[in-house]
Amino acid sequence: MTAYLQVTGLNKRFGGLQALRDCSFTVGQGRITCLVGPNGAGKTTIFNAITGFLVPDTGHVEFQGRSLDGQSPQQIVHHGIARTFQNLRLFADLTARDNVLAGMQDHVGEGPLGAIFRPFHTARALAAKQDAAMAVLAHVGLQDRASALVRNLSYGEQKLLCIARILATGAELLLLDEPTSGLSGAALTEVMALLRRLQAEGKTLLVVEHNTRVVQQIADDVLFLHHGHLLAHGSPAEIIADPKLAEIYFGGTL
Ligand SMILES: Nc1ncnc2c1ncn2[C@@H]1O[C@H](COP(=O)(O)OP(=O)(O)OP(=O)(O)O)[C@@H](O)[C@H]1O
Ligand SMILES: [Mg+2]
Repeated sequence: MTAYLQVTGLNKRFGGLQALRDCSFTVGQGRITCLVGPNGAGKTTIFNAITGFLVPDTGHVEFQGRSLDGQSPQQIVHHGIARTFQNLRLFADLTARDNVLAGMQDHVGEGPLGAIFRPFHTARALAAKQDAAMAVLAHVGLQDRASALVRNLSYGEQKLLCIARILATGAELLLLDEPTSGLSGAALTEVMALLRRLQAEGKTLLVVEHNTRVVQQIADDVLFLHHGHLLAHGSPAEIIADPKLAEIYFGGTL
């Protein structure tokens, strides 16, 4: 059977550092797969390789049976894969709504020529885009913050906005790079609830996550990466119970 996402034999070297070594795994459709491992293990590099932000030295990525090799990040978004960034990459001086709009793909007729030759079409298209942006903001619970500048949003709200931005692409497979890092209390609970809701709505999630409690609560499958190599995969219970992995991760108990 064709895997939903199939990653095969990824290798990536940065100078003297082998960041990914023969990295192979699959992600099942409709599942939440957590990618874990110590700092520098290569988790973000895997995201970069899947989403076209870097070209691996060797290896292949297939999504729903189609090769993504050599495709640009924009082409990969068109296939239905979108990712967030560990360092957020939001526009601090734009509103939450404009950040979502900036992440949406352009449609025919919205450019300057469209505005001259097809003004009503363009106005309708822009209104539809605004509506879509408001819908994704409401989806993550930020409807009341649409007009707020990003720099006035709390960190938790900024993390939710990153997810809203990629939902606006309509992607089915969401790659989230540490969506809960820096969060605690209600903000952490809110992001976890959103991830589960997205799964219930049919999305597939690949999530880089450092918080073991979060992994336990949201993951269906766990991939454990160490020095760029996939050391283990299994259920959260299996991974957390493995003393060898705990030693690598924390030098102790997971
Ligand atoms: N563009 C790059 N040029 C050089 N080295 C890089 C580059 N990107 C990543 N690296 C190195 O590759 C290794 C893996 O980095 P990566 O960011 O994938 O780790 P990570 O598992 O996401 O870590 P963290 O948990 O800290 O985010 C690190 O040693 C990092 O310094
Ligand atoms: Mg990282």
